Amino acid sequence: MAAKAKTQYSCQNCGYVSYKWMGRCPTCESWNSFVEETVAKEKAEDGAALAVFREEFRKPGSQKIFKLEEISEAQAHVRSSTGMQELDRVLGGGLVKDAFTLLGGDPGIGKSTLLLQVAKGLLENDEEARILYVSGEESVEQIRSRAKRLKVPEVGRIYLAAETSLERALSMVHEVKPTVLMVDSLQTFTSNSSQSAPGSVSQVREISSRLMALAKTARIAVWLIGHVTKDGAIAGPKTVEHMVDTVLYFEGDSSQSYRLLRTVKNRFGSTHELGVFEMDLEGLREVLNASSLFLGERTSPVEGVAVTASLEGTRPLLVEVQALVSPSSLPQPRRVSVGLDGQRLAILSAILERHIGCALGVKDLFFNVSGGFRLSETASDLAVVAAIYSSFEGKPFPSDWLFLGEVALTGELRRIPMLEPRIAEAHRMGFKRVILPKNVDLKDAVKKIPIQMTRIGHLREFRTALA
Ligand code: TYD
Ligand code: MG
Repeated sequence: MAAKAKTQYSCQNCGYVSYKWMGRCPTCESWNSFVEETVAKEKAEDGAALAVFREEFRKPGSQKIFKLEEISEAQAHVRSSTGMQELDRVLGGGLVKDAFTLLGGDPGIGKSTLLLQVAKGLLENDEEARILYVSGEESVEQIRSRAKRLKVPEVGRIYLAAETSLERALSMVHEVKPTVLMVDSLQTFTSNSSQSAPGSVSQVREISSRLMALAKTARIAVWLIGHVTKDGAIAGPKTVEHMVDTVLYFEGDSSQSYRLLRTVKNRFGSTHELGVFEMDLEGLREVLNASSLFLGERTSPVEGVAVTASLEGTRPLLVEVQALVSPSSLPQPRRVSVGLDGQRLAILSAILERHIGCALGVKDLFFNVSGGFRLSETASDLAVVAAIYSSFEGKPFPSDWLFLGEVALTGELRRIPMLEPRIAEAHRMGFKRVILPKNVDLKDAVKKIPIQMTRIGHLREFRTALA
């Protein structure tokens, strides 16, 4: 019996569902983002999509219970290398056989390029790999010419199709029997079972749930590209993050050539891993020595600059922070921060004023993290303080000094996690001295690193310790 068609309104930005139209979304607060959608049919079909998945489990003999030790290591982790160390690490050690990975990012950032390079790596590293690349954005000729440029090997195991219908793409899967399916992109595909427009919340959810069912039942690794959208007109990858195994975001400044690949969610590894790539004429190149990207290229010291080691996942990156303190003519001096939370900057400048005695209240303060990097760890507090202090005093620190430590409101320096990889990276990059909290217990591994360590307990000692 056909259910009566009902309508609902869903926010195209965050997926919030309401039974009446609203001008502003109560959860994500975006305006005019509600679009009317028909639900009855979709619900029935939604069930159908998942039924395949459930049927698989109901088959006699397939509903198995295992003892923990019966599950072999091989069964638990079948991973293949994507040919790119940076990407393998971000994925948690290579691509899992039936992983459903969502690759999000701004249009034009390089998502399609990255996927074709994954295809290349998989074909070169795994003789069993068969890849089906279905694009709703480009013609097969366009994909071919890009693949040629990226030197994707023509080994007869990669299939291309220009298609926007999910059902037709799924029938191609039955025909080709790939080990990896790549779908470009979430917003251009439509499924018959939803009557909403391509890119709407119910479409993108339908597409993701059907692809998830496919990945898990047929044991195919599925890659899905999703464009991050600025306005509410089409649904972004956020709306389907909860459905997939792994969510990666590809970020970067379009004016700069490097790209950062971040893990936001990973059922097969740690999140907060970071991969660094650079886009050039031959596609994306891994940047293994990423610290060099975020360090200024100077040899003589300048004021207002300090370097810290920030940990992204398991990887330490040396990052340069810059501060500019100048006299203010405004009743309320300016505080401008790029790459560091504005609240954190306000707190740190108040601490600096109180405990080192820099009168910042009558000064404008501009703060920037080099290379467009974002600092999220409190371990970089001391470097922020050092940069502001250096600009305020007009006194540069030697360019081979590294600052590590969290600063408490009391002015005390707090210990930070994972000291060893940070100091090792600094040593590798030629740094000579580390300024760090007094109360950290230096493990043997850290003590062995031939680098001078200056340990301070309170910001009060800052002036004297560094004089
Ligand atoms: P693309 O992968 O198409 O981005 P997305 O799929 O995220 O929309 O890549 C976009 C840009 O990358 C495009 O402007 C051209 C540039 N590019 C290079 O600089 N070098 C290359 O080798 C390739 C393939 C692309
Ligand atoms: Mg693309």
